[in-house]
Amino acid sequence: MSFKINLLICFFILHLWAAAGHKIGIYEIKKGDFSVKVTNYGARIISVLLPDKNGKIGDVVLGYDTIGEYVNDTSSFGAIVGRVANRIGGARFTLNGTLYKLIANDGENTIHGGPKGFGHVVWKVSKYKKDGPHPRITLTYHSTDGEQGFPGDLLVSVTYALKNPYKLSVVMKAKALNKATPVNLAQHSYWNLGGHNSGNILSNVVQIFASHITPVDQSLIPTGEISPVKNTPYNFLKPREVGSQIKELQSGYDINYVVDSTEKMKPVAIVYDEKSGRVMDVQASAPGVQFYTANSLNQKGKGGYVYQPHAALCFETQGFPDAVNHPNFPPTIVTPGKAYVHKMLYTFSITKYWNSY
Ligand SMILES: *[C@@H]1O[C@H](CO)[C@@H](O)[C@H](O)[C@H]1NC(C)=O
Ligand SMILES: *[C@@H]1O[C@H](CO)[C@@H](O)[C@H](O)[C@H]1NC(C)=O
Repeated sequence: MSFKINLLICFFILHLWAAAGHKIGIYEIKKGDFSVKVTNYGARIISVLLPDKNGKIGDVVLGYDTIGEYVNDTSSFGAIVGRVANRIGGARFTLNGTLYKLIANDGENTIHGGPKGFGHVVWKVSKYKKDGPHPRITLTYHSTDGEQGFPGDLLVSVTYALKNPYKLSVVMKAKALNKATPVNLAQHSYWNLGGHNSGNILSNVVQIFASHITPVDQSLIPTGEISPVKNTPYNFLKPREVGSQIKELQSGYDINYVVDSTEKMKPVAIVYDEKSGRVMDVQASAPGVQFYTANSLNQKGKGGYVYQPHAALCFETQGFPDAVNHPNFPPTIVTPGKAYVHKMLYTFSITKYWNSY
């Protein structure tokens, strides 16, 4: 009941925003037969069109047909999530002696910045070039002091840009205007390289360049340990099928990996879908990546297709979950005057043979 009322309020606020000139729209960036559609509702990627090995174009991200469905969405399809992506245990943290209480929206914890995190606000389109040599769109959002419980005003931006050949770059930035605050932005697309409506991803071949994970408790909050993947179903150091050991887990993968590389742009993961021949390579500047196999999906999406558990893969590059409550994790606090930048690069290609598999 209160969920329904919240949605009504949500729609009402959206209409006010629209009336104030913050229109919700859909924007395409395009380079030949490679195109990405974005909406400023949640700065979300809503489609990624790519050829397969036979030249047939397919849409490789899960999503919906209408903005109204994105407003109702609880899976963060394609969104930029924040102010703090992933979970904060007990929906609280202490920063410099002050206790901040957040809104719990995942049992007793906060996930993806709270019920009205950055995936559920209207961003402003500040730059947009549909095609030509440098197709790109920049979206910005001013998050206010106390929003969803977080301290200080924060300016955030994301730029989606297409580069040759078949590269999608995502640059997320944030600037604290007056108070120190935790910041952890993540791009939450659900990938299915065989096509969003092609069934499950269990036969995809995945490689993750990470020798350690941050183990979690029953409510998916990190215990604070950093454990090797060796001899566990989490080991994707060598490419193998996603489904080959998934039955050893409760419902699938939903865990933060500690990316091995110390380079600025770190190799994170490679995915290969044999049927379509599509390959996706993910690099990012963040120290961690949440590998999620869409374990709890049961959701009607684009064209009425029903997405079931394991219909997609997420590689949410990020700071470590609940870092604000774990002093041994890399810090996620952004202070005024110091910029936060998180870069990602997706490179898509086609191969008929997977050499190293
Ligand atoms: C959003 O959810 C409400 C409540 O379940 C439902 O009545 C409404 O039809 C949904 N809107 C869309 C666009 O799906
Ligand atoms: C904590 O407070 C001190 C003293 O007011 C200040 O110098 C410092 O920058 C603060 N640190 C953070 C992370 O806010």
